Amino acid sequence: MAELQLQSIKKRFGSMQTIHGVDLQIQPGEFIVFVGPSGCGKSTLLRMIAGLETVTEGSIHIARRDVTSLAPSQRRVSMVFQSYALYPHMTAEQNLSFGMRMRKVPKDTIREKVARASEILQLEPYLKRKPGELSGGQCQRVAIGRALVQDPDVFLFDEPLSNLDAELRVKMRAEIADLHQRLGATMIYVTHDQTEAMTLANRIVVLRDGRVEQVGEPMALYSNPVNQFVAGFIGSPKMNFLPVLRHGSDEDEISVGVNGEGGRVELIISCHTIPASDDELTLGIRPEHITIDDSSALRARVRSVEQLGSISYLYCTLAGQSLCVQSHGQLLPRPGYEVGLTFAPDKLYLFDSDEQTISTLKPTADH
Ligand SMILES: Nc1ncnc2c1ncn2[C@@H]1O[C@H](COP(=O)(O)OP(=O)(O)OP(=O)(O)O)[C@@H](O)[C@H]1O
Ligand SMILES: [Mg+2]
Repeated sequence: MAELQLQSIKKRFGSMQTIHGVDLQIQPGEFIVFVGPSGCGKSTLLRMIAGLETVTEGSIHIARRDVTSLAPSQRRVSMVFQSYALYPHMTAEQNLSFGMRMRKVPKDTIREKVARASEILQLEPYLKRKPGELSGGQCQRVAIGRALVQDPDVFLFDEPLSNLDAELRVKMRAEIADLHQRLGATMIYVTHDQTEAMTLANRIVVLRDGRVEQVGEPMALYSNPVNQFVAGFIGSPKMNFLPVLRHGSDEDEISVGVNGEGGRVELIISCHTIPASDDELTLGIRPEHITIDDSSALRARVRSVEQLGSISYLYCTLAGQSLCVQSHGQLLPRPGYEVGLTFAPDKLYLFDSDEQTISTLKPTADH
């Protein structure tokens, strides 16, 4: 367990700058998840922490020790890759023990550590098999085991589950959460999968184009996104965004008009900032905060329906704009039908033309 500090980290590949000054303070034992679109710099950041990539500017401290220019082997970190990176000609057991054998760790210690990792990750039945004789999930467990036997201060995971099928991902996700509970180790985990991010993280770091957009607990990001990018990235299906016309405002409220099929509805939103009156505004509302209500004046046309069992998603059109609505109902309108919709009045977000949140932040406990 160790704390980790990134200070003004920058990275240039030739003339191209990929990371533009990242500051991050990670507490001992924290589970931090990096999310962001492809190419935003998640792996680069992780590889710099591991020492696999040089840092152009800035510093990295692990357990208060400056590791910025130390070799990977001196940092006390272990990284688990998406590709597993196991040695194909070695058995699972040999893969687990390889690093320790190279470092001439006493045989008894190796045996003990391999046994403990195998027990934690339930690898005992597979120890004599080579990677080619193991499933993807089993290979990934060996890769995690190989990190575990090094007793690192910090575990780094780069999309470790993305090669697994949906069912196995859910299982392995639970296993990683369990591992974190048991070890209490500091972990940094990169993923595209926002469900993984929401369920595993103590705190999520949302990255875009090599910059941190927001850092916070999963529910804080869900309830209080600082801008439209974070609002759209956290939550699945994503938040709906609608261009709106401003009707009027006072010092802490803005009234806007939302166009529906055949008419406009006025909504009033509490705001902490009131932009200039000609600023174009965007309304945000999550699918789970819209209800079908046939008495509502806001009308939408149903385009398609996805029934998932306990819930369904209705994909609608609202004056040319797409809108996703979550429904718990069993009797659903069919495609082509018109429905009335109500937006939960305390779940409305408003963004200015710079995509910054101007609506008053919602209490995080109430979502
Ligand atoms: N060795 C390299 N040389 C030049 N550019 C690189 C190198 N490694 C990464 N990049 C660039 O840096 C940017 C960030 O890449 P990175 O792999 O960190 O993204 P990522 O967020 O992990 O994306 P993904 O989700 O697709 O894995 C990309 O534009 C990438 O092309
Ligand atoms: Mg990557």
